[in-house]
Amino acid sequence: MSRIDTLLAKMTLREKLGQLNMVASGYAVTGPLLGGDSPDAIRSGDIGNLLNMVGPEHVNEVQRIAVEESRLGIPLLLGFDIIHGHKTAFPVPLAEAAMFDPVAWARTARVAAVEAWNDGVALTFAPMLDVSRDFRWGRIIESAGEDPWLNQQMATAKIKGFQGSDLSTVGSLAATAKHFCAYGAVLAGREYASVDVSERSLHEIYLPPFEAAVQAGVAAIMPAFTSFDGIPMTVHEPLLKDYLRGKLGFDGVIISDYNAVAELLHHGVAADLAEAAALAIRAGVDIDMVSNAYRNHLPEALSRGLVTMDEIDACVRRVLVLKERLGLFDAPYRRGAAPLAALAGKIDHHEVARDAARKSCVLLTNYNDALPLAAHERVALIGPLAEAQADMRGPWGGASVAEDSITVLKGLSEAVGSVSHAAGVSIDGNDTSGIAAAVETARGADTIVLCLGESAPMSGEAASRAHPDLPGKQRELAEAILALDKKVIVVLFAGRPLAVPWLFPKASAVLMAWFPGEQAGPALADLLTGKVSPSGRLPVSWPNAVGQAPLFYSQYPSGRPFNPNDHYTSKYIDAPNAPDFPFGHGLTYGEFALSRLAVSKPVFGPTDTIEVTVTVTNTGKAKAEETVFLFTHDLVASVSRPLLELKGFSRITLDPGSSGTVTIPLPAQDLTFHGKDLKPMLEAGDFEIKVGSSARRSQMLNTRVKLKL
Ligand code: IFM
Repeated sequence: MSRIDTLLAKMTLREKLGQLNMVASGYAVTGPLLGGDSPDAIRSGDIGNLLNMVGPEHVNEVQRIAVEESRLGIPLLLGFDIIHGHKTAFPVPLAEAAMFDPVAWARTARVAAVEAWNDGVALTFAPMLDVSRDFRWGRIIESAGEDPWLNQQMATAKIKGFQGSDLSTVGSLAATAKHFCAYGAVLAGREYASVDVSERSLHEIYLPPFEAAVQAGVAAIMPAFTSFDGIPMTVHEPLLKDYLRGKLGFDGVIISDYNAVAELLHHGVAADLAEAAALAIRAGVDIDMVSNAYRNHLPEALSRGLVTMDEIDACVRRVLVLKERLGLFDAPYRRGAAPLAALAGKIDHHEVARDAARKSCVLLTNYNDALPLAAHERVALIGPLAEAQADMRGPWGGASVAEDSITVLKGLSEAVGSVSHAAGVSIDGNDTSGIAAAVETARGADTIVLCLGESAPMSGEAASRAHPDLPGKQRELAEAILALDKKVIVVLFAGRPLAVPWLFPKASAVLMAWFPGEQAGPALADLLTGKVSPSGRLPVSWPNAVGQAPLFYSQYPSGRPFNPNDHYTSKYIDAPNAPDFPFGHGLTYGEFALSRLAVSKPVFGPTDTIEVTVTVTNTGKAKAEETVFLFTHDLVASVSRPLLELKGFSRITLDPGSSGTVTIPLPAQDLTFHGKDLKPMLEAGDFEIKVGSSARRSQMLNTRVKLKL
């Protein structure tokens, strides 16, 4: 008999339910704290899993209670949210998506995993794979943005980074793909609201990143808080059981979101907690995060015949298998035992953070080569984000310390010598009395670097905004500074693109920094001074107006496409259809031209992979990195197909005056779509191949290929 069969045969119902129970630790000044009866509950086998406990001394102590003082000695599974780094704070995920760099995505996940492993963590609740097309939604910050293909690539890279090739090895964590699924499509961008998307969108937009996660061997999946088509995801049998477990063959652990089992009562699908617990078990949710509904109410559910022992056993088995895969039975105290330096090898975690921060900033505009700053310029640093240390890190900072973040003021002062500084206004206050002094400070400089944007808590969970623009009195400050008619470089910090169309024509340059993490100051100094050229690209379309939400490039055609000379065409009468900046947009200090688009096989079959090549030339004055995107468009199909679909990208670094070729593979299978019957299919016919530096169609190179079946 296997270890798990032997254990299952010995376990009481109470011990089984303990393995399905995850409780949260609290915090005291000295660190994480297990309150109430928790130590006793670990001893009695009522708690099998913990979240939010970090630190080797704390973790090893609770692990000791589980292993040495509980009847069966089953180790605890300790979970923690690692959204953008553990101790070292990296850029927020939406910013990381802007790197368009799978190697860098995997690297930051690996560094975070190593740090967390060393801190006693075995499981992380990341990556988030919710395709996000609505910038009002606060959790867009945790996503890879609007595109399903991009989210798939990030899913694969992050899971590889967190999990390594074997969960039991030093520095590997179990990853959780969340939040299954379509959480990003909450009604009107409002947090925790319901989701109602078509089956086609579900299969073509929202599920593919989770399919990629399962293919990458993700250890766990978390259902969303939200309801989908009227059924809360926590109990969505068709999606959890039939699709995820059945069709995709996912046999890892499903963990509810925080208190989501109890919230089934608010959703109105369960009359009491016994019913709620039974519904979640029957949908295949193995671990109940903090609601205690499993622990306290499954015995009653069993006696009422709402659930069977076999269904409970299947969940317990999956939890034990994960603990075994993580090596917890054989080495329960291993985590936290090895010194960080030994695990980290030769990688400097702060350098990884600085590199990621540089790569994730997106240069939106740069009129007359306003950037980089010239050596002789006298710089004034103005705005409430210039010295906002805690905000640089962004929300959900894991085990990092906000005070470790380096401000723009510090980073830029160190790079260029002294800079004058004034905040002018607070991030979201109403006091304008500091604007006059800020204007005076700015007057004495040649160039003003104006740091504006959101505070960290203005995006993330439960931070939807109906007015996603500059909060407080920042616009008044900006207009007063812009009125000086000097060179004004705006650095924006935010967890989402902000609708600030008035800013772009007036500022000399705008650099979107998102929340860059602990190395904000040095990384921004590197970019502003030209030590490094910006290379980030927008993973989301940048809105002109909030009324454009949801906004994304991959739109279906209209029978009446916009025509300025025809009133009865698809448009707003008070805003453009187009975003202010398209998906993929991002300037560099170089200048790039694309030419000589070619495909390896203009006519190809369903098992072929064609190669799309294009020549890239740096016609500018500085060495820089260009990102080239490959889109397709199915010209005529049995169902209407989006005007553009991303199928690949490639990056190339070029010196001024030099050229290079990029090659992007396109497997015919990637042209699969869901037919009239909603079944995946390949259809013969002509496809446009479109290559460009962003999703702006007017600037793409085009050719056609033919798929023959
Ligand atoms: O992992 C998170 C989830 O994304 C939101 N609710 C709480 C969970 C655990 O912290």
